[in-house]
Amino acid sequence: MPSEKGSRPPSIAVLISGRGSNLQSIIDATRSGQLNATIAVVISNRSEAPGLARARAAGIEAISLNPRDYANRDLYDRAIVELLHARHVSLICLAGFMRLVGSPLLEAFGNRILNIHPSLLPAFPGLDAQRQALEHGARISGATVHLVTSDLDGGPIVLQSAVPVLDDDTVDTLSARILIEEHRIYPEAIRIVLAGGWSIEGRRFVRSTLVEKPTAR
Ligand code: GRF
Repeated sequence: MPSEKGSRPPSIAVLISGRGSNLQSIIDATRSGQLNATIAVVISNRSEAPGLARARAAGIEAISLNPRDYANRDLYDRAIVELLHARHVSLICLAGFMRLVGSPLLEAFGNRILNIHPSLLPAFPGLDAQRQALEHGARISGATVHLVTSDLDGGPIVLQSAVPVLDDDTVDTLSARILIEEHRIYPEAIRIVLAGGWSIEGRRFVRSTLVEKPTAR
């Protein structure tokens, strides 16, 4: 996956369903040079997703694919695979993509799909992770970037960042604190995965060659 010196930056795709603030952080990281990658395409399962406009404003191809136009989940996933192969995408980044990723995508992009989740996994997988943390009474929560497997929110963890849960937090205030960390760690995790020099051991993401210096916080 790592690009050779002098060659074109790797192409990534971002899959969204909504607001697209994580998409924006990835766009910004490619613009600033923090992330040496090109966003080849942004795909949404919802035509009204505000993130599509963010992509277009940045001059990135943005496609809306309605699952209802496909007879079943596999055909929908295969249509995405075709779009991504045609654009030579080497890594898929799910950023608020509110659909389960099916086997056609998982098989075509094994260990090449990332997701961001608003909790410290394996705590609070699934929907409403911030509400789950609050209602559980957790004192710490955070954000996790992980590789996507067939196990919902259960793939190997690439990066995490913790935030405190405060006594007077609401779902909104906790979500906002976590979102700051999401925007910080997602581009960094993409950079790490694209750089290569890692392997999966059991369920662990292991960086085997520490050739690069970490970027400053
Ligand atoms: C984020 O909290 C992300 O962790 C979760 O969905 C939300 C998407 O937000 N998977 P945005 O669309 O990136 O603003």
